[in-house]
Amino acid sequence: MNVLVLGSGGREHAFAWKIAQSSQIDKLFIAPGNAGTAQEGTNVDLAVDDFDGIKAFCLQEKIDFVFVGPELPLVKGIHDFFLGDEEIKHISIIGPNKEAAQLEGSKDFSKRFMKRHNIPTAKYQTFTKETLDEGYAFLESLKPPFVLKADGLAAGKGVLILDNLEEAKNELKSMLTESKFGAASNQVVIEEFLKGIELSVFVITDGTSYKKLPEAKDYKRIGEGDTGLNTGGMGAVSPVPFANQAFMDKVENQVIIPTIKGLKKDGIDYQGFIFFGLMNVKNDPFVIEYNCRMGDPETEVVIPRLKSDILELFEGVATRTLSERDVEFDDRTATTVMMVSGGYPEAYEKEKSITGLTGIHDSLVFHAGTKKDGPTVLTAGGRVLAVTSYGKNKDKALKTSYENIEKINFEGAYYRKDIGFDIKEEED
Ligand code: AMP
Ligand code: GLY
Repeated sequence: MNVLVLGSGGREHAFAWKIAQSSQIDKLFIAPGNAGTAQEGTNVDLAVDDFDGIKAFCLQEKIDFVFVGPELPLVKGIHDFFLGDEEIKHISIIGPNKEAAQLEGSKDFSKRFMKRHNIPTAKYQTFTKETLDEGYAFLESLKPPFVLKADGLAAGKGVLILDNLEEAKNELKSMLTESKFGAASNQVVIEEFLKGIELSVFVITDGTSYKKLPEAKDYKRIGEGDTGLNTGGMGAVSPVPFANQAFMDKVENQVIIPTIKGLKKDGIDYQGFIFFGLMNVKNDPFVIEYNCRMGDPETEVVIPRLKSDILELFEGVATRTLSERDVEFDDRTATTVMMVSGGYPEAYEKEKSITGLTGIHDSLVFHAGTKKDGPTVLTAGGRVLAVTSYGKNKDKALKTSYENIEKINFEGAYYRKDIGFDIKEEED
């Protein structure tokens, strides 16, 4: 089988690494990829939303599967683009169609979906510039902190959490009337603040049946103790000890099953991964958000724990026979620690040479923002490398990641030394 992976981050490197191990793989390509994905297959210089370019490449290389890493091409309708074209409709896209991707592409769509199907989520209302005054009144009816969400995709920056009512009103006005997040904030969802601990849950679905993947917890803030600016994610741990059987049963019965059934009932076809961003509020799950793709850096701990052949699962999705496929997981804990460029998530420098990569043997180093310059690997993004390790427990896995990080160097490198700090696990 010939596979094209779209994307260029740590998530895509982890998928490429896993796909490369499949007994069914013939040729693996990654567009645009990074220095790490180039070790697993062939990088192709194509943007993830260059649909015509992707079509031409798929025909040229007789691609069977396109796995779509990031949300952008999904929300722009890459699945529909393939289905609507006689020459490429036989190629299977692993990722939902445009309508289904609205679960991530529009907060208002996803909130309405959850309300319709009784899926637990924070109370909310949606406003436009015509209903700004009603928005102010709704804010006045809530207790702080105030949660404001731009409806559309805003590169992870569209959610504001504010303590002060006047500030919340000003931000609402700026989102709606001054396009603070461009067209993404033409509508704003205001919702109740949920107090609890977050986790990420994933399934792969063929539209009817689904397989659960291991859950994970990611660490989004730049600073230790979860302080400072939000980032794309500074590290992750899987499994999550508080996600015990009783809690995960609630997740399955109150969130996963109603979502899969709700999609079906609404006539929305979904083939791909669903990411449930959850808040555990006193042992009850609430959906904070849906994503129509896998998480990053969660993928860098979830995929290493998957023992089954991933192309078997892709085939199950494409032929809608997922229920017949087996899925097995590694019982060990996996942790990942992200090494980032100095200054990230604000301005940072690129093109710093990375040393020490070849000396790592007991961790998996997934590249997030790197590129090759002859034999040298250079930094090419804010998040640079995800150093993933296995262990009998979280502490042992993290110890290995941190030991290996010491061997890797680039100018300005920064990482959090406290990944997993808020997770307690049984002593053993
Ligand atoms: P989202 O893009 O919807 O995932 O929101 C980004 C982050 O804001 C989440 O990961 C949460 O940490 C936080 N957040 C979003 N909605 C809420 C909420 N209703 N209550 C508390 N925190 C929230
Ligand atoms: N780690 C969160 C995300 O991928 O959106």
